[in-house]
Amino acid sequence: MADEPRQAIESFSLEGRTLLPPDDFKKDALVRDQSMYDQASEDWTGFWATQALALDWFEEWDTLLEWDLPFARWFGGGQLNVSYNCLDRHVAAGKGDKVAFHWEGEPGDTRTITYAGLLDEVQRFANVLRSLGVQRGDRVAIYMPMVPELPVAMLACTRIGAAHSVVFGGFSADALRDRIDDAAAKVLVTADGGWRRGAVVPLKASADAAADQAPTIEHVVVVRRTDHGVDMKEGRDHWWHDLMEGVAVECEPERMDAEDLLYLLYTSGTTARPKGIMHTTGGYLTQVAFTHKYVFDIKPDTDVYWCAADIGWVTGHSYIVYGPLANGCTGVLYEGTPDFPARDRWWDIIERYGVTILYTAPTAIRTFMKWGGQEPAKHDLSSLRLLGSVGEPINPEAWTWYWEHIGGGRCPVVDTWWQTETGAIMISPLPGATALKPGSATFPLPGVEAEVVDDQGKPVERGGGYLTLTRPWPSMLRGIYGDPERYRETYWSRFPGRYFAGDGARIDDDGYYWLLGRVDDVMNVSGHRISTTEVESALVDHHSVAEAAVVGAADATTGQGIIAFVTLRGDFESSDEHGQLLRKHVATRIGAIARPKTIVFTDDLPKTRSGKIMRRLLRDVAEGRSLGDTTTLADASVVEEIKRRAASAPTED
Ligand code: WT7
Repeated sequence: MADEPRQAIESFSLEGRTLLPPDDFKKDALVRDQSMYDQASEDWTGFWATQALALDWFEEWDTLLEWDLPFARWFGGGQLNVSYNCLDRHVAAGKGDKVAFHWEGEPGDTRTITYAGLLDEVQRFANVLRSLGVQRGDRVAIYMPMVPELPVAMLACTRIGAAHSVVFGGFSADALRDRIDDAAAKVLVTADGGWRRGAVVPLKASADAAADQAPTIEHVVVVRRTDHGVDMKEGRDHWWHDLMEGVAVECEPERMDAEDLLYLLYTSGTTARPKGIMHTTGGYLTQVAFTHKYVFDIKPDTDVYWCAADIGWVTGHSYIVYGPLANGCTGVLYEGTPDFPARDRWWDIIERYGVTILYTAPTAIRTFMKWGGQEPAKHDLSSLRLLGSVGEPINPEAWTWYWEHIGGGRCPVVDTWWQTETGAIMISPLPGATALKPGSATFPLPGVEAEVVDDQGKPVERGGGYLTLTRPWPSMLRGIYGDPERYRETYWSRFPGRYFAGDGARIDDDGYYWLLGRVDDVMNVSGHRISTTEVESALVDHHSVAEAAVVGAADATTGQGIIAFVTLRGDFESSDEHGQLLRKHVATRIGAIARPKTIVFTDDLPKTRSGKIMRRLLRDVAEGRSLGDTTTLADASVVEEIKRRAASAPTED
């Protein structure tokens, strides 16, 4: 019974309560009242122009916004350089010795990178890229662990006006090759490997498998990280440190147009083919700098900010690299997993660096909950003053645990809703001004307008429906690389005149927004977006599979888990081993993140009389619910059989 008091705390919930900003936080907050919302609603385009002036422009824009729905151009005629805004201007202002990143490798090695040091490396690597033939307008693929060379490579691209396409290091060789091909990237920047849970992730082997089949790749640059011995292909592959030696230390920043392509980032949708989301220069940097500053209440002189995402996702692009550096902030960059060497690694990092702001995902918070409050309790977390959440709806239990056990009941929790496509945070509290409700992302930020609409596209003032955005915003995607029609079709056709985000949402009686998850065939596993269609097509691409249907089922830790219902071709036996083989196959086609948690073998899938798979019923089965309406089912006995099989299917954690 010694456990009782702790249990009492852990079951305490703030659900249903409204929490005013704590006085201690509010007194120094950048925004303490509604005035910024008022300003923005009086003149929303003027509001964004004001925010853009926080950047340094070589040439100011002449056209603030051209809106030819769904194509936006922001700050037309304006010229700027992203690396200049992230680095040179801070160094010129005397902040060269300020720490840009406290980097920590998983094995415990560390590097302190100042703004001057970062500028130096970025210029040199920009010259390296040029020496390899990269020109303004080209694309560079980046496939790296969380090492300082990753932001260096990104910023070096922006310096010379090349667009980067960062591919998360957990993606497979096939996935990397597809993305290289789509972008026609000339150069691939990678590493021999990275450290993860004490083991080497052999990135170079995957990079080779991809580059060998990618005709556009002329050069591969390899950072030495794990030093485990890799093959280097003569003439194509070069060590980073060799190329950096003896290269010129200065590189003038290119004067880029506000609308020049800054980067591509691939994300899954409802089809099997990932989309290359395009972000451009001026609008993107304006909104990431603005949101980073005000949502996280950044005081660049005193804050130590840690966004614990991977740079391979949009969260890392916007809130590890571009937003924080544009604001001259000090950040933490950590390579590895939270449980290496022990389950208190994050809390140890926070204590040692005096982290003041932590930004992470609900799935991580729920994992920490599972590990127990004793882990953070081993460390002094009193430096923290603000907590953030992103990637999926945060359940009130996880919110409360985060608030209590990490924030010590003193730190506001900002739940931030946005997407790869939006580029920057769209719906979120401003922590000194917004009364919080645990589990709600609260309100659209100043300058942003969101509406929830019903099936017919009619706005609902209160209640549930589809989340839409009703006007352009500076960091909005400019399209899907190479496919303007797909851009229009995917985001702007379901509700004419509106951007449809793919999410369901509800507005409560006080006008608060509650995000309810995806309403399309997209799953959210640990905050990562995975398409059911993409996993299905990876499965049917295996010679043993006749048919596959994939659904996301609620999972207490990862938000959703991937459940695959598979029908095998005649000669193949359903067995645990075969399930393992198919899981591995999906990991090879897409990446370990897409590996199904459960594979249910079945002789048939539930279909309508016209042959359409009824996923709704499969979701009911996967989540152990009683079945919804089955009247349109061609053969009702099929589901009974599937239910039986699902109950005994092995599940992998
Ligand atoms: C999808 C976007 C934005 C960076 C991470 C994911 C879900 C994101 C929240 C939130 C509820 C959220 C949505 C969205 N999502 N943040 N605070 N509350 N849902 O980027 O891979 O582009 O996925 O993540 O479903 O559409 P992404």
